[in-house]
Amino acid sequence: MLESVSENFPQIHQSQITYLDSAASTLKCKAMIEAVTKYYREETANIHRGIHDLSEINTTRYESTRDIIHNFLNSKAREEIIFTKGTTESINLVARTWGEANIKSGDEILISAMEHHSNLVPWQMLAEKSGATLKIIPINDKGEILLDSYEKLLSDKTKIISVVSISNSLGTINPIKDMIKLARKNSPALFMVDAAQAVAHKRVDVQELDCDFLAFSGHKIFGPTGTGILYGKKELLEAMPPFHGGGDMIDVVTYKKTTYNHLPHKLEAGTPHIAGFLGLGPAIEYVQRIGLNNIFEYENELLNYGHEKLTTVPGLKFIGTAEAKASILSFVIKDIHPHDIATLANKYKIAIRTGHHCTQPLMDFFKVPATARASISLYNTKEDIDKLTETLIKITELFG
Ligand code: ALA
Repeated sequence: MLESVSENFPQIHQSQITYLDSAASTLKCKAMIEAVTKYYREETANIHRGIHDLSEINTTRYESTRDIIHNFLNSKAREEIIFTKGTTESINLVARTWGEANIKSGDEILISAMEHHSNLVPWQMLAEKSGATLKIIPINDKGEILLDSYEKLLSDKTKIISVVSISNSLGTINPIKDMIKLARKNSPALFMVDAAQAVAHKRVDVQELDCDFLAFSGHKIFGPTGTGILYGKKELLEAMPPFHGGGDMIDVVTYKKTTYNHLPHKLEAGTPHIAGFLGLGPAIEYVQRIGLNNIFEYENELLNYGHEKLTTVPGLKFIGTAEAKASILSFVIKDIHPHDIATLANKYKIAIRTGHHCTQPLMDFFKVPATARASISLYNTKEDIDKLTETLIKITELFG
């Protein structure tokens, strides 16, 4: 484990469970739990709406989370950071606002064959509504995007491309920067990045990537559930119509007409998840203190160890063997259903996920109904991998 990590995650000490399901949701760090608890126990008030002290204190803290994320993603401006409920809402926001205003019949939307349903269904809905075509960038048997095929799919018709940075089902790290460069060269398309699985494992710099939109969820980076981020280039966000109508997103309201607030508030209607964003700031600062390069290096060592150890389990086959991978060990075991693997692992107090991981077409591609998935984070250790390996061997013996 990275130095002093364990003391920052109370659940590690309070639970006997070996937690290998961080891709579904990470454990929560102390600084975030304290910030959320303080708000609910001692300092509750609404934000942006009061001039009393508590409202002002919370508004300042809430807005400072925006500054932290602005710095974390290296966006050009703080108002390019929009608070949402999660990656799913961020992607839907773009598909529903930018998408409905800009995508027309005959246009093409590109996604990859390894997208989470949240980066597939909103684009499919947009295609159905607009008459546009949804095209799929193919992958190889290792679970890597075929860049030549991608380049061939790009044309004047391509209007938006949305691709996951690190696959939640396979762990593949996609060459997003190269893909954006190719998109710029061969099409007028905007590029959106689903960074839900990336942000807790690998540094993301929106200016370096030159992406147009990027989304992630707080709960996958040691923060609260129900918090998410949409990054968008300012000129794009400014030109977009609002998503939800209501309080906070308005400037002047009359029965005849409503004018809208400036960014970021135009895209943030209603009382938000205040406690959540008060917690997300310290969670991100915690990651910044450890350093994503250190985290990546440590987890990479653990991932390689996991590949090595799990290979000793009879009948185990990895699903997702890309050269560039992070944090995910997805596998099937001959003649044992993935649900049985996870159910029995649970009996041995190991938490792993099973299922299609919200990537049904990807499961079809690999011709499996589901996989078992162990996902690692900075608080996991080689002992966790050893325990998983021993348990999987026991399970194969039970079925043998
Ligand atoms: N997208 C999350 C996962 O991969 C829920 O488990």
